[in-house]
Amino acid sequence: MRARSEAAERLENEGTLPREELVQLLTECDDPTLERLRGAARRTTLGRFGDGIYVRGLIEIGNVCRNDCLYCGIRRSNREAERYRLTSDEILGCCERGYALGLRTFVLQGGEDPSLGDGPLAELIAEIRRRWPDCAVTLSLGERSEASYERLFRAGATRYLLRHETADPELYAALHPGMSHARRLECLAALQRIGYQTGMGMMVGVPGQNAGTLADDLLLMERFRPEMIGIGPFLPQRQTPLGDAPAGSLRLTLLLLAILRLMHPAALIPATTALATLAPEGRNLGILSGANVVMPNLSPPAERKKYVLYDHKAAFGCEAAEGLAALDRELHAIGRRIDYGRGDYRG
Ligand code: 5AD
Repeated sequence: MRARSEAAERLENEGTLPREELVQLLTECDDPTLERLRGAARRTTLGRFGDGIYVRGLIEIGNVCRNDCLYCGIRRSNREAERYRLTSDEILGCCERGYALGLRTFVLQGGEDPSLGDGPLAELIAEIRRRWPDCAVTLSLGERSEASYERLFRAGATRYLLRHETADPELYAALHPGMSHARRLECLAALQRIGYQTGMGMMVGVPGQNAGTLADDLLLMERFRPEMIGIGPFLPQRQTPLGDAPAGSLRLTLLLLAILRLMHPAALIPATTALATLAPEGRNLGILSGANVVMPNLSPPAERKKYVLYDHKAAFGCEAAEGLAALDRELHAIGRRIDYGRGDYRG
């Protein structure tokens, strides 16, 4: 008990902890310690960012994927997934709708679609920047070559989300057939070298994970110092090999959000869709644990049901771009509000 609250105090004051103490906190954190850490994370967030919560328009540009990640509903082997690809015009249409709603960041996310060539993608990014020069383009398109990342950066994309998924190379290999942890880290290093604001992160509660691997996730991110950190609970998708595994825990996700905020005071940390899907109050609880970003869904409503990374994924109401007014009302209930700025990283 004493050791736990001392660890919490050290984390608050120093922004880091040795591995053993992180493991201990992740396994034995009692409710008072959790609330104390969440309070400290909340104060850190308010001190840096005030009461504003940044919003990003999430455009799911396609669900064709060459990978076969065991947890993911759009994995290659899922024959039941109905595949789609948005055209450039459809994506520009999403941006237009999003701009009118006040969004100033567009996140283009999709599976690793081999037919998504650099040329058309660079052209699309450049066109978005031409039409809406006051907006940021974030990419979340998985592993690509360094030359590709460079070309897309030159076209005008300035942020890239690539979760490391797990710091444990063996667990990484087990969850991602044919992929390697080393290559993942090379991609992240390349993104940072090029100058992207880079996002990392992991799911909480994916089978095979434990307090040790989670502590290693925290230490890996401490080493890379990403500008953005995305974490959310693992949620089973019934058509995948992990379809019967239990969902990740709300409590552990909130604890990790608080720890991450204390370790990365300036990072942009979303209350993710997975967290909002896990629990009705998930989004607000995440914000009250140190998150400061929400990513409402801006995909064409007809395609949203097809981007099924996990079952029951929230994509309407407050998780939808059309629901920004409702989102703002929910934020006001916890003393926060939408910040419509671009919300670039400020270290
Ligand atoms: N549950 C929760 N998150 C998932 N992701 C993929 N599948 C799931 C799932 N079943 C996350 C991965 C990926 C991000 C886009 O979505 O961490 O990086």
